[in-house]
Amino acid sequence: MTDRYAVIGNPIEQSKSPFIHMAFAQVTGQDIDYSKVLGPLGGFAAAVDTFRAAGGKGMNVTAPFKLDAFAYATDLAPSAKMAGAVNALKFEADRVYAENFDGVGLVRDVVHNLGCPLRGQRVLILGAGGATRGALLPFLAEQPSQLVVVNRTLSKAQELAQLAEQHQPGRVPVQGLGYDQLQGQQFDVVFNATSASLTAELPPLPASVFAPGALAYELAYGKGLTPFLKLAQQAGVTRLADGVGMLAEQAAEAFVWWRGVRPDTSAVIAQLTVPLI
Ligand code: ATR
Repeated sequence: MTDRYAVIGNPIEQSKSPFIHMAFAQVTGQDIDYSKVLGPLGGFAAAVDTFRAAGGKGMNVTAPFKLDAFAYATDLAPSAKMAGAVNALKFEADRVYAENFDGVGLVRDVVHNLGCPLRGQRVLILGAGGATRGALLPFLAEQPSQLVVVNRTLSKAQELAQLAEQHQPGRVPVQGLGYDQLQGQQFDVVFNATSASLTAELPPLPASVFAPGALAYELAYGKGLTPFLKLAQQAGVTRLADGVGMLAEQAAEAFVWWRGVRPDTSAVIAQLTVPLI
């Protein structure tokens, strides 16, 4: 029997998840159906109840429901607890298992697809919102030499740095800084996890932060050369990436979790790539 999965969000038309999961199902020979559910605002739980009652096995969750999914879950994985948000659900009888694969997907894209190990590297992440929260533990697991969270609102960066320290006291030095404290510091990998790119804004990042040979990674997907990537390019950075690989890899993590088989992501990434121009 065909197992049913879906992505729920509002709006949902833009979601690439059905395309990605159906492509994974094809290459792995899995018999699944994957659809889009437009969740009514304020009606997340009822929409998921309906999907489960019809035999649904799992869901991806996108904006604005990641916190509703957190509240709906019966069993939260550490990744979801740390991120404070959920992006994948698995239904088994009366249990609702919840994960957040965004951070692990990001790290897999950087290390595995882009061939950029984080171990021993100086890592800078811009922003202290949900995207950064989700990436903290997966970053620390790679043992960079240093992890700096920089944010417009300094207190939020400091809070996240403290939270990260609590999870691994003293192992990887983690700092929360303001942008004006970055002068004179250089990093091997710089991630833009702010929402600034969605409005074509540029965080006040000094162009001097990019070390020779650095990777500049924009978590947003499909926006071409964002102001952040342009800044990096103008600073001489040649390794530029956006979040297309992260999108594919977080989907692959959910697919493995649901189906027990890991799909190759390269074809999906190639098809979804928007040139960085
Ligand atoms: P998400 O869940 O996508 O991470 P969020 O939780 O709303 O979104 O967080 C957005 C992040 O982008 C915040 O760190 C925000 O900085 P503040 O905490 O100071 O608000 C950051 N951000 C948004 N627009 C920005 C801009 N123009 N320049 C710098 N940082 C920006």
